[in-house]
Amino acid sequence: MASKKLYIKTYGCQMNVYDSARMTDVLAPLGYAVTDTAAGADMVILNTCHIREKAAEKVYSDLGRLRELKQEKDANGETLLLGVAGCVAQAEGDEIARRAPFVDMVFGPQTYHRLPEMVAKATGRKTVLDTEFPAEPKFDQLPVPSAAQGVTAFLSVQEGCDKFCTFCVVPYTRGAEYSRPAASVIAEAKALVALGVRELTLLGQNVNAYHGEGLDGREWSFARLIRALAEIDGLARIRYTTSHPNDMDQDLIAAHGDLPQLMPFLHLPVQSGSDTVLEAMNRKYTADDFRRVVDRLRQARPDLALSSDFIVGFPGESDADFEATMALVREIGFAMAYSFKYSRRPGTPASVIAKQVAEDVKTARLDALLALLVEQQRAFNAAQVGCELDVLFAAPGRHDGQVMGRSPYLQAVHVEAGEQVSTLIGKIARVRVLSAATNSLSGELLAPRPISSSGEAAA
Ligand code: SAH
Ligand code: SF4
Ligand code: F3S
Repeated sequence: MASKKLYIKTYGCQMNVYDSARMTDVLAPLGYAVTDTAAGADMVILNTCHIREKAAEKVYSDLGRLRELKQEKDANGETLLLGVAGCVAQAEGDEIARRAPFVDMVFGPQTYHRLPEMVAKATGRKTVLDTEFPAEPKFDQLPVPSAAQGVTAFLSVQEGCDKFCTFCVVPYTRGAEYSRPAASVIAEAKALVALGVRELTLLGQNVNAYHGEGLDGREWSFARLIRALAEIDGLARIRYTTSHPNDMDQDLIAAHGDLPQLMPFLHLPVQSGSDTVLEAMNRKYTADDFRRVVDRLRQARPDLALSSDFIVGFPGESDADFEATMALVREIGFAMAYSFKYSRRPGTPASVIAKQVAEDVKTARLDALLALLVEQQRAFNAAQVGCELDVLFAAPGRHDGQVMGRSPYLQAVHVEAGEQVSTLIGKIARVRVLSAATNSLSGELLAPRPISSSGEAAA
């Protein structure tokens, strides 16, 4: 019986979302059940992100508030265990323990299976610090999920990064690249499907660099892993993120053409359209290499849409370099994208480049890029009006009788479904798109059809 309450606040990428769910699973046998406020909790964990300065700063302001909550609870004779997990914990563990000694546990992303020991050691006197990269991979020690949050789920298959882009902290916070054995990935996928999950997003910092032990004892590529997952009955949709352009091999491109479960929407970060900047970033491809990868993907899957990540104001980026990024965006056309001002991260090679770009220049470039990307996103959504899409319904909508789902392109789709709302959740049905906004579509239900085990609505 759960007697204690756990609140986890998650920042950063999907991998942290996944990790937070696994921490919940690890703590359940200790009597912790999830709650949605810090105030009602016996344990609060901040699962943090170090990717940009702003993300990292949030941790200390949140800790200030939690300190007060902890003091109030102490005064009432209650206890609050405070933990800081994730990438800030990994990068600045000692500093957190020094600046915020009231934190009970500080632990890095590779240690979550050891949480029960840390909780036992947390006496309230001294911060328990665990930021090692243990020899035993955490995945093999974590329990299989026992409860799913809904019809979609994340599944980490690869973690860490050996690419060392000059701006990025991930190789330092997540450690070396590691691929889980296919058997444990498949077991977890089956468990999730049995819990009602219909769409899986496979996660990794470089998910398509996956090279884990296969069911036959040999090394499997990412494409091979996806093909095995596509055989799971009831798993209708497969996505993956984040992929690196250099790891987009022919096998994986071919899988996009062959597998109806593999959704035609791909997040493929390019960062910049300038070869000079790409080289300084250590991305190890040119803008033309990226164009060629996109061409091959579109040949394999003509209805493929793309999203991407961009950094503006990387040290040394000139007006001409930035124009090259704008030109690439115009040429490729993105269904959506994330763009960021370059943020100087301590310990990374780019942070010590002398020619940093002025803040106002970064702001102007970000505004220009965002305007172009939003225009493309609107155009992409508007182009769906009048079309039919398969929608996986996930949750009730904004008002009674409305239901919300996701298109193959991950667009939120709202549909008026009257009495059918609850029967539609977890199912895929054909929808005609009636109108489009920047971030969502509205549509009408065509006759709902049962999903086939192979994927989208059966014909
Ligand atoms: N592995 C992925 C990216 C993971 S980080 C890849 O290689 O594409 C997610 C995104 O954050 C990156 O794509 C990049 O656009 C952005 N990012 C990473 N470090 C950054 C920094 N120092 N400043 C600004 N944006 C950054
Ligand atoms: Fe960071 Fe580059 Fe690795 Fe992506 S590939 S996680 S940007 S170092
Ligand atoms: Fe942030 Fe760590 Fe993810 S730095 S983006 S939480 S890998």
